Amino acid sequence: RYKVIFDTDPGVDDAMALCFLTRRQEFDLLGVTTVHGNLDIDTVTRNALWLAERLGLDVPVGKGAATPLVRPAGAGVPHVHGPGGLGDLMPPAQLARAVDPRPAWQVIVDLVRAHPHEVTLIAIGPLTNLALALRHDPAIAGLVAGVSLMGGAFGTHGHGGNVSPVAEANILSDPEAADLVMTAPWKVTVLGLDVTQQVVMDAAYLDRLAERGGPDGAFLRAVSRFYQGFHERSRGLAGIFAHDSLAVIQVLAPHLFTLRHGPVRVVCGGLADGQTIQKPAGLPGPPAPAWDDAPSRAVAVDVDVGGVLALYAET
Ligand code: BDR
Ligand code: CA
Repeated sequence: RYKVIFDTDPGVDDAMALCFLTRRQEFDLLGVTTVHGNLDIDTVTRNALWLAERLGLDVPVGKGAATPLVRPAGAGVPHVHGPGGLGDLMPPAQLARAVDPRPAWQVIVDLVRAHPHEVTLIAIGPLTNLALALRHDPAIAGLVAGVSLMGGAFGTHGHGGNVSPVAEANILSDPEAADLVMTAPWKVTVLGLDVTQQVVMDAAYLDRLAERGGPDGAFLRAVSRFYQGFHERSRGLAGIFAHDSLAVIQVLAPHLFTLRHGPVRVVCGGLADGQTIQKPAGLPGPPAPAWDDAPSRAVAVDVDVGGVLALYAET
């Protein structure tokens, strides 16, 4: 089984990814950590606690960073994910679960050290917690099995950014943290918009989840309705991008993805703030330490869309 830590800013697609993960026996979920992003840290942490309750999880939920590493907190995106971050759904005032006393980075460090070389970090929000964990304990880079993250946009298939012409939301929410994570000596697989915007769950697909998926299906349909409205208004899309679920599915079914290898850096500042760039293989030219010293990353550039949609629906 894959031991995983789920780092998240729920978030509609985060909730859908967590629901998928918890219903697959192949995963052994060790902990959930929250991070600023889609909404402020208190809101997304309440959402995570409520999701843990609804999905019947018995793992620590660590509250994470309220702000990016070096920048002030962003404003959040309630117009994308709904006023409380979970579409039209709202957690009740009283929650059955409480946060772990440790900060998220500490939860990550402790779990990785308790299971050396076994833990995969699934990161589907801004990368602040992972960067903080590395900062506090750099040796964990050599102790994780790998990182599977949703973030970035590499310009393949004509997909630019979703929050600037070149930047994707998770990366632009903390570019300094993202560059640390991309250049640390651990194994990283990157699921960016190049693949996540290929996988559209359309209205009929979401309706079918509700019809055939029992209580989980009903929940997935309800949580995704507001998000669908955003995609319709902003993109003319009669459905939603699957985004965060792909970081989970990649761990379970890597054969559904085509990967491109090479160092990845993140632009920090200026017009291209938050852009992710992968160095092409065999690029001629003088030595460039910023690239040559950075480890190779696996960037997903293609995806078996039908395979992903079938796996999610079947689960
Ligand atoms: C990413 O941004 C967030 O709004 C989503 O939850 C996803 O993680 C997509 O760019
Ligand atoms: Ca997310």
